[in-house]
Amino acid sequence: MIATTMSDAGTVAGAQRSKPAKKRDPMVWVIKPAVWVLCLAPLAWLGWLVADAVFFGGRGLTANPVEFINRYLGDWALRILLVALAVTPVRILTGWKQAVRLRRLLGLFAFFYVALHVANYVILDQFFDWTAIWNDIVRRWYITVGMLALLCLIPLAVTSTKGWIKRMGGRNWNKLHKAVYIAGAAACLHFFMMRKGLQYEPLVYGAIFAGLMAVRAVEPLKRRIAAS
Ligand code: HEM
Repeated sequence: MIATTMSDAGTVAGAQRSKPAKKRDPMVWVIKPAVWVLCLAPLAWLGWLVADAVFFGGRGLTANPVEFINRYLGDWALRILLVALAVTPVRILTGWKQAVRLRRLLGLFAFFYVALHVANYVILDQFFDWTAIWNDIVRRWYITVGMLALLCLIPLAVTSTKGWIKRMGGRNWNKLHKAVYIAGAAACLHFFMMRKGLQYEPLVYGAIFAGLMAVRAVEPLKRRIAAS
């Protein structure tokens, strides 16, 4: 996803659209800029909390700022990943085909927040102590699972461009980008395992992920029934 996410069937269509048509396209002038603003707002808020703490002694970052920042970025990474995964279900349920043009942008923003979440862990939490990080990966299961999610997302982010779609061919590219489902499942599991015990928040995220997967299954199921 970032295939499905980053798959941007709409991008190709967008490139073929004439200039005057592009000028009138609300996706270009309204919806995509709104997505940029919405996706950057959590980072701007975090920036404000950091500045407030540094310059005015604000306490918005709590008594444990590193943990707060790590959890905050992890939460937003997962939320945006789920929003990216919701694009196809929205198209299926509402028939709004233009929605697919947002997948790539949302997928890349999800990856951006994951990268910040991991960078915070490596830099502020572990101070680049690679031995401690390796020990965490092999001994703490929720970090192992988080790592799996990250490893699934990296090739999707790298191959999200039109050049890579051409180079790989649509079929292979689509196959590779199915890894986003593994990433989504692993990210939900990472959250669930990290919180320990039955807490409602990870369960809600897990249920949303399961619901999105169920809606996606509707189309192929309908096709099979029609064919039989
Ligand atoms: C797709 C990838 C990932 C996503 C979506 C994700 C998301 C999350 C979420 C939602 C939380 C819980 C936040 C909360 O309690 O509110 C979390 C916690 C955490 N994540 Fe990730 N994560 C990912 C990958 C990783 C990776 C690769 C690492 C480290 C190598 C990592 C390290 C951590 C740590 C250390 C915590 C716990 C922080 C604490 O105890 O306060 N995550 N993550």
